[in-house]
Amino acid sequence: MTEKDFIPTSLNTSTLQEGKYTWKTPSNIALVKYWGKKDNQIPENTSISFTLDACFTLTTLEFEKKKSEKANFEVFFEGKKKDDFKPKIATFFERIEQYCPYLSDYDFIITSRNSFPHSSGIASSASGMSAIALCVMSLERSLTTEINDNYFYKKASFLARLGSGSACRSIKGSIVVWGNHEEIKGSSNLYGVEFSDEIHPNFKNYHDTILLVDEGEKQVSSTVGHKLMYKHPFAQERFKQAEENISKIKEILKNGDLKAFANLVESEALTLHSMMMTSTSYFILMKPNTLKIINKIWQFRQKTNLNLCFTLDAGANVHLLYPENEKEQVNDFVVKQLIQYCQNNHYICDRVGKGATQTSI
Ligand code: PMV
Repeated sequence: MTEKDFIPTSLNTSTLQEGKYTWKTPSNIALVKYWGKKDNQIPENTSISFTLDACFTLTTLEFEKKKSEKANFEVFFEGKKKDDFKPKIATFFERIEQYCPYLSDYDFIITSRNSFPHSSGIASSASGMSAIALCVMSLERSLTTEINDNYFYKKASFLARLGSGSACRSIKGSIVVWGNHEEIKGSSNLYGVEFSDEIHPNFKNYHDTILLVDEGEKQVSSTVGHKLMYKHPFAQERFKQAEENISKIKEILKNGDLKAFANLVESEALTLHSMMMTSTSYFILMKPNTLKIINKIWQFRQKTNLNLCFTLDAGANVHLLYPENEKEQVNDFVVKQLIQYCQNNHYICDRVGKGATQTSI
């Protein structure tokens, strides 16, 4: 599909006066990372992620026919009016306007909350933007008879991407690919697609325990980080490596090789942070406790021969990835040896989830 396919042709806003839609959308954690983009939120390389379950955003979009010419929307987050969220959402609405012309006919109230603490260092833009995108698509579905489920979710992912790149991977579960890759059927730079190849039972119900090492705001936003890849001396090699890693992980997901999975996923995490450390300007998002945890994981793996591995997002927190049948030993290890490195002893037990759901709350 191309961008043009997402411009609706027959819409009727004359009868729908008001309403509201609510979506619950998960966060996601990339296994092969997206870092570096072209204009229009087009990724420089393909990425693949686990959709999460416990970390989600719940968003309601209320709308009523516009009373004045001026575009109007209000944002409430966790019960409070949040004017500082408005510029990001205004930019998002501007970017999607040509694909959702009906937006200019309504006023909106967006009410949102996260299941995880906002300042926990867990990226809320993926779940947050995908939730708004799905609410917008519910509105679109009410205005036309021409939408089937396939188009609905593709366009929701397409819109979410325009809000925050990785948000396009937060619509479906359990594994999502974003970026055009010759070995992934149906893959696209414009939206995320569910990984539809064979997945080995080893990866069913995979766990992600998120150790909250640093709950503060990120020092460098991902928008700035992506831009630093423009003139990065290692960028082209990195983009090539990511494409190769997609081919490798596709095979690993099929054959269930958990050792190869740990190697690839940890290498991806450290490569992401190496890109940050070698860009101009350079920066470091890991904290001393991030490295202490990584070393503990490596010792634990050597001692137990279990398959616990880590990945990192653009921050200091550590995501512990492990299969269902290792959860008791890993939980014991977390409680006895890793919690001490978490800010305020905070951590979140999550696992691979099934994607976004519409609710009536
Ligand atoms: O979606 P953005 O623009 O916030 O970028 C996210 C990039 C990483 O989270 C670091 C990696 C990824 O693929 O999710």
